[in-house]
Amino acid sequence: MFIDLRSDTVTKPSADMRAAMASAEVGDDVYQEDPTVRRLQERTAEILGTEAALYVVSGHQGNQLCLRAHSQPGDALICHTYSHVLHYETGTPCAISGLQPRVIDSLDGSFEPARVAAHLLPRNIHHSRSRILSLENTHNRCGGAVWPMERFERVATFGREQGLKVHLDGARLWNACEASGTQPADWIHHVDSTSVCFSKGLGAPVGSCLAGPKDFVEECRFYRKMFGGQMRQCGIIAAAALFALEHNRPRLAEDHANAKLLEERINQIPGLSVLPVQSNIVMVDIGPTDSEGLPDYDTALRPEAQVLDGQRIPTGAELARMLGEGVGGLPQVKCIAIAAQRIRLVTHLDVSCEQCLQAAEAFERVMAGALAIA
Ligand SMILES: Cc1ncc(COP(=O)(O)O)c(C=O)c1O
Repeated sequence: MFIDLRSDTVTKPSADMRAAMASAEVGDDVYQEDPTVRRLQERTAEILGTEAALYVVSGHQGNQLCLRAHSQPGDALICHTYSHVLHYETGTPCAISGLQPRVIDSLDGSFEPARVAAHLLPRNIHHSRSRILSLENTHNRCGGAVWPMERFERVATFGREQGLKVHLDGARLWNACEASGTQPADWIHHVDSTSVCFSKGLGAPVGSCLAGPKDFVEECRFYRKMFGGQMRQCGIIAAAALFALEHNRPRLAEDHANAKLLEERINQIPGLSVLPVQSNIVMVDIGPTDSEGLPDYDTALRPEAQVLDGQRIPTGAELARMLGEGVGGLPQVKCIAIAAQRIRLVTHLDVSCEQCLQAAEAFERVMAGALAIA
């Protein structure tokens, strides 16, 4: 048995979730006749406070359908450098929507209106039209950071005042709500569209919903068909999403507590430091960091030998490999090196507090061993 901390997407459906799937009422969803899908969409819209929602296969598809429906080829998309829509979605904004990215850098994925203002282009015959502002909460690549609500409101309001369509990649909006004591609708009423995932912290095997005003969601339905994303008796999987939505939100607090536990334990290990944990993502930095405790991503991507007290310390890939091989009778730990000197761990419903303690112990032993032989 191994402890899988690569992502919150690795969870497997529980027996109760499988039972809900097995007994799901289904119909042809292209005719909008699948009662389970309809229920999922209505319930999601109710929770998010939107007029409508549409079931889609993935967060990637949900985000990109929204971007496509908001824009015309040649328009500009303003978003964070490491936003999932740009960094991890295979260039879809450019390939499918013909969008021109205008990127904003920040350490935690959030920013103030002035940063958006600096990326707005003048309206004239020379420039692309600034069309979409895309925000991400929690921010995956920035370590599960949660936007401060007031800043989110300021930037979304400013974007709308400037005539931008504001999209929220809310793949982990559930986590943002848990971490900040807010409700999904508190965030969503500031934006024009969103995509939320059931297949991450909520533990469903597949699926997301995009949401927004009725006409907009119908436009997305059209593009979903254009890209071949329509499904037939998909109530069988929507049942799992509905189960996840109704049963698994309150337990996200456990994942956040486990992430905090990993932070606390790993921070005590010589040579390792952890970005302040805000939700269920734990970023472990190996070796020296800058004055803010952060590795510079550009240098982090260049695997130069890092030295601690005269000893060469392992790279993220080396450490991840050693953890994956297992150490001293402890379970193997699966994790991802997302930069040369950074490992990402994600807590979820298939890892217990006990397993997080074991994972931290594995980090300690592997680091001690690595430094001893360096
Ligand atoms: C912030 C964010 N948005 C979107 C996605 C895409 O979700 P999917 O894997 O369902 O396409 C992810 C996936 O991890 C994510 O972290």
